[in-house]
Amino acid sequence: MKKTLLITGGAGFIGSHVVRLFVNKYPDYQIVNLDALTYAGNLENLKDIENAPNYTFVKEDITNAEGISSLFQQYKFDGVIHLAAESHVDRSIVDPNAFINTNVMGTANLLNAARELWNGDYEGKLFYHISTDEVYGSLGDTGFFLETTSYDPQSPYSASKAASDHLVRAYGNTYNMPFVVTNCSNNYGQNQFPEKLIPLFINNIRNKKPLPVYGDGKYTRDWLYVVDHARAIDTVYHNGKQGETYNIGGFNEWQNIELIKVLCTQMDEKLGRQEGESAELITYVKDRPGHDRRYAIDANKIKNELGWEPSVTFEEGLSKTIDWYLENQEWLDHVTSGDYQKYYEKQYS
Ligand code: NAD
Ligand code: DAU
Repeated sequence: MKKTLLITGGAGFIGSHVVRLFVNKYPDYQIVNLDALTYAGNLENLKDIENAPNYTFVKEDITNAEGISSLFQQYKFDGVIHLAAESHVDRSIVDPNAFINTNVMGTANLLNAARELWNGDYEGKLFYHISTDEVYGSLGDTGFFLETTSYDPQSPYSASKAASDHLVRAYGNTYNMPFVVTNCSNNYGQNQFPEKLIPLFINNIRNKKPLPVYGDGKYTRDWLYVVDHARAIDTVYHNGKQGETYNIGGFNEWQNIELIKVLCTQMDEKLGRQEGESAELITYVKDRPGHDRRYAIDANKIKNELGWEPSVTFEEGLSKTIDWYLENQEWLDHVTSGDYQKYYEKQYS
């Protein structure tokens, strides 16, 4: 069936994997990738599909309400998969307003534009909002986040994502707009900007730079390979029940320090270094303010109801990820030049 689909944030890490999957898998869909190309957006991520006949890129900022509204009128989108966001917790601690503007106001602008275009005729329409497990706050040593877990966001980033989730559900409830929300755990894989733990540490190991471990290193995250997240998004977009929330996770919890040790071991092997050489770079540094102790997703709803589950083991995914970064030196050099150096100095000096 022919459809015109808007994917926001498609030049970013997860968005680029989603755009690639939809462009290749659905030749009948017209895919419009809308992205402001902030520091995190990079069209190099989509070189392989940039000339596909069913793909269009539009440079626009979701905080520009008028621009967004006229794009909806121009393209008459049937569906929206909304990923555009400011996404890094550490940056949200330094500059919360950027997160409030993009994540809250930007989402409101998209909802308003969809409401205006669809005008109560919702046949075949869907607003799919991509969110995070961080909205649920922090867990103790046990337990899991369920779709019914109360929201308790602790950082400006997660608070802004929580606000955007509430807006989407409110538009569904008030205007009957068809929507789905997914809350996913930590992603890793190729094309992730090297401010997040795994690509930052891969890059530092490669350059024999210190590995800055926050606090005691015993914070826990649940890691999912990004291609599996993109597969989950495809599944939910096509088979998810309207008005529902699905948690997405890797069934794969790691304490940061344990994950870092595995990463160091794999990197030693791949770089032909002596065993233990990379682990010597581990440096404990000042903790992140308000650092959430543990996230763990119960992803059984999407598994049981929609048949999705991760397909890539952590060992395999991590190995592929390291290989990609080692083979794509140019990509890393591009994204770590200029402003990245200033960010790094400020964050880690
Ligand atoms: P990212 O930072 O790599 O990419 C974000 C993209 O959004 C970039 O291409 C950027 O240019 C674009 N963008 C930012 N502000 C914009 C604006 N005002 N207008 C238009 N485009 C703008 O982020 P990511 O890690 O790919 O995350 C994508 C989405 O998934 C986010 O909504 C994030 O909250 C969510 N999420 C991320 C993870 C994760 O582990 N990375 C996990 C769960 C959910
Ligand atoms: O849980 C989903 C979320 O995962 C997403 O919503 C966010 O967009 C994404 O950035 C990610 O958030 P985290 O804060 O969990 O990811 P980050 O890679 O920044 O950090 C992972 C863990 O590693 C966290 O406990 C902090 C720690 N850390 C991170 C960095 C960058 C360090 O110890 N040192 C570091 O230099």
